[in-house]
Amino acid sequence: MFAEAFRNKTVWLSGHTGFKGAWLAQWLLELGANVHGFALEPATKPALFNQLGLAGQLHHRIADIRDPAAVRKSIGKVQPDFVFHLAAQPLVRRSYAQPLETYATNVMGTAHVLEALRGLKKPCAAVLVTTDKCYENREWLHGYREDDPLGGHDPYSSSKAAAEIAISAWRRSFFKKHPVKIASARAGNVIGGGDCAKDRIVPDCIRALQKKQPIAVRNPNATRPWQHVLEPLSGYLWLAACLSQPLAAPKQSKGGSTNDSQLASAFNFGPTHEANRTVGELVTEVLKHWPGRWEDKSDPHAVHEAGLLQLSTDKAHALLGWQPLWSFSVMVERTVAWYRETAADPRSAPVLATRQIGQYQADALRAGLSWAVK
Ligand SMILES: NC(=O)c1ccc[n+]([C@@H]2O[C@H](COP(=O)([O-])OP(=O)(O)OC[C@H]3O[C@@H](n4cnc5c(N)ncnc54)[C@H](O)[C@@H]3O)[C@@H](O)[C@H]2O)c1
Repeated sequence: MFAEAFRNKTVWLSGHTGFKGAWLAQWLLELGANVHGFALEPATKPALFNQLGLAGQLHHRIADIRDPAAVRKSIGKVQPDFVFHLAAQPLVRRSYAQPLETYATNVMGTAHVLEALRGLKKPCAAVLVTTDKCYENREWLHGYREDDPLGGHDPYSSSKAAAEIAISAWRRSFFKKHPVKIASARAGNVIGGGDCAKDRIVPDCIRALQKKQPIAVRNPNATRPWQHVLEPLSGYLWLAACLSQPLAAPKQSKGGSTNDSQLASAFNFGPTHEANRTVGELVTEVLKHWPGRWEDKSDPHAVHEAGLLQLSTDKAHALLGWQPLWSFSVMVERTVAWYRETAADPRSAPVLATRQIGQYQADALRAGLSWAVK
């Protein structure tokens, strides 16, 4: 898996107490990495980080990404082989309430990581995570490509576009002849077990179903590129592995191998077309596995949220041989199974995480995906 790139390697991971960060920490530990986490205390109760018992398995540091000295000190001390930067204020609606906090965390937090990476004098592959929402959304029917204009209507989306601009500027200004290689990763709306955030549709569904209440759906007709959390994480891991060993990347059709500068760039990791579904369709699929009902709670005065977003994954496919794996129905089934099983037995979370990562790896191997075969 992943060309064995992470075995006995040191990884600095920001945002390890969050939803995607906890899954990534779990997967990295299973791949044999020595993981150093940097984040705030888990923000939800329950929190996946606690359910998986990660505090006892990695170097767990509570610190603030808005503090440049703390970030520099931590990365300088850890001397990582790999960096995954996920710490962020990731919620669109909260960004309307807290625009300055969102910018301080997402833009300056990313700049602090970039500055700390400048100080490293050793090879390191860094993947900095932004989002599909960093594109100027024109409600196009086709998927956004990595060189389409950045933008964003709301403070969250625009903060991630600004983070992308910072990454590109730092890379061109400071990392051309530097042992640290930097890529950015843009993924779509992620679902999966263990997300307990407010204002996200799957956790909202589960909370309502557990209370036997109807699910209130704000935006039933909004289309999103839904994907299981393991999909973008496989992309982040494989991108980092290829950045650290470019020869591991699949050979190109023109005969050459992928080079450093092609890899040290931005990548989309989105789902297949069939997973571009409306919120209403997602809720209906959830209800197949956990019966209940939903109500249209569209609010004409609600803050603006994008209506249609799709990502082109041609670049990740061409340069990394990466592609999404689980269909819409499989990802929803696995996600609801997680909440049902952990509701029945909260201690089942670590076993369940290992099982779902194992299923995903086995499916990738059967499908012959480069990261699984290598
Ligand atoms: N969940 C999605 O659908 C989705 C989609 C696209 C991109 N993303 C991106 O993926 C990343 C992870 O998202 P998530 O869904 O796991 O979010 P999350 O809210 O579950 O986790 C956020 C993490 O960032 C940390 N954090 C927040 N502010 C911090 C600060 N000031 N200092 C240090 N740490 C701080 C939190 O402690 C937590 O560990 C984010 O960068 C997000 O923008 C998420």
